[in-house]
Amino acid sequence: MPQIVVLTGAGISAESGVPTFRDSDGLWVGHHIDDVATPEGFERDRSLVQRFYDARRASLSGVEPNAAHRALAELEETMGEALLVVTQNIDDLHERAGSRNVIHMHGELLKARCRACGAVVPWQGPLIDEPACPLCGTHDLRPDVVWFGEMPYEMERIADALSQATHFLSVGTSGAVYPAAGFVQHARRHGARTLELNLEPSEGSHFFHESRLGPAGELVPQWAREILWS
Ligand code: APR
Repeated sequence: MPQIVVLTGAGISAESGVPTFRDSDGLWVGHHIDDVATPEGFERDRSLVQRFYDARRASLSGVEPNAAHRALAELEETMGEALLVVTQNIDDLHERAGSRNVIHMHGELLKARCRACGAVVPWQGPLIDEPACPLCGTHDLRPDVVWFGEMPYEMERIADALSQATHFLSVGTSGAVYPAAGFVQHARRHGARTLELNLEPSEGSHFFHESRLGPAGELVPQWAREILWS
């Protein structure tokens, strides 16, 4: 049985209508990353940051998983824990498609973290009105997302999975942000076959054995069929 690690980025959710970060209509357009995606930005202008993530959280109710998310969920039905999805995305589209073995290395929009007691709690509504932490009552909740300068989640588990992977697939990520951008080299060093599926060549395309260009909604189901038939 192959051991597969799939790294996903904003491009896998693009066909669902979730904007990517670095494309011409991307999320960062009109925003300085330093303002909305760093701990310092949060200290400087808390309302701006809460509003930015509140809007993104609210927009999740208007989007649905696409064929790429569904193909990964269906493959997991056959492969079980031999398929691990590591996503940089903070949306919940993998879970809504049915994937269970998912690591959100950059956190999740639908969770809030209390800066006083450290609790991480499911969160659906806005944070702009500074609600109380359901556990300790302090009014100091932030989105449970990993900002630049912060440590991504579950790095040890991810490193173990990359070391054991027979196949590493990267979908819809520009390869601009480490440590995720370095996963291909880690997996390849440990013997994995590496494949990239992206709309355009990513910054790290040359690290992969193979690169296929096109929309994730077409390329991921096609790749999943190849794995099932191999
Ligand atoms: N199918 C496949 N790939 C696509 C599609 C699509 N339909 N649409 C866009 N893409 C590709 C783009 O060509 C681009 O290379 O997806 C990539 C998206 O890149 P980014 O916007 O940089 O998103 P991502 O790589 O996920 O960003 C990484 O950076 O800003 C931080 O924390 C944030 O998790 C994010 C991280």
